[in-house]
Amino acid sequence: MSSSSSDNERERWNQKYREASGTETWMVPDSFLERAFSQYILPRFPHGGSALDLAGGAGRHAIWLAKQGWEVTLIDVSDAGVEQARQNAGPLAAHIHFVVDDLTHFKASQTQFGARFEVVMAFFFLEREMFSEVVKAVRPGGLLVYKTLTLAQLQLPGGPKNPAHLLAPGELLRLADGLRVLHYREEIAEKATAELVARKGI
Ligand SMILES: C[S@@+](CC[C@H](N)C(=O)[O-])C[C@H]1O[C@@H](n2cnc3c(N)ncnc32)[C@H](O)[C@@H]1O
Repeated sequence: MSSSSSDNERERWNQKYREASGTETWMVPDSFLERAFSQYILPRFPHGGSALDLAGGAGRHAIWLAKQGWEVTLIDVSDAGVEQARQNAGPLAAHIHFVVDDLTHFKASQTQFGARFEVVMAFFFLEREMFSEVVKAVRPGGLLVYKTLTLAQLQLPGGPKNPAHLLAPGELLRLADGLRVLHYREEIAEKATAELVARKGI
């Protein structure tokens, strides 16, 4: 993404977050995180750890994980979204590192922890070009937790209309090539999604 298209994206999302400010719209975590946590994260990391929430928006997933005792880094291009995340976190903000940045230039090695996160997660965000960096940010033995919309969403109300932001069938599995897949599901329900939990080998 060029800097001007990244500015446009920031402005587009800033506007959405300002319009939704004060509503609960962005605050209920996707239930996949709770399932992934109890089935895969907690058994492997019972004492918590560090997580990276990519395009974390107003913080619903970062805050939920911080409540479970994790330290979370949230990165998002929208300063309005990140500011809402900070407000929404209340005292848990002390356990969340808030970063306003454009993930199209994301480099795992430049994050505060380098490639050392026990959990890297992303919900409803797709930038294929930086996916290999996303994988690098998972520490050996750590987990990638990913859920976003698929092309089937084009037949349903809402969601992006640009196929560049929608997964093809099986694409998330291909993007996670090299990781050990623990869970994968594509679903067409209220939304069309693919979800994945995968582990990096030690
Ligand atoms: C559909 S929202 C999802 C937010 C959050 N993951 C959630 O599930 O509540 C997409 C998010 O991606 C962020 N975003 C879009 N392009 C981005 C980019 N290039 N770099 C970082 N964040 C970006 C937006 O600001 C927005 O917060």
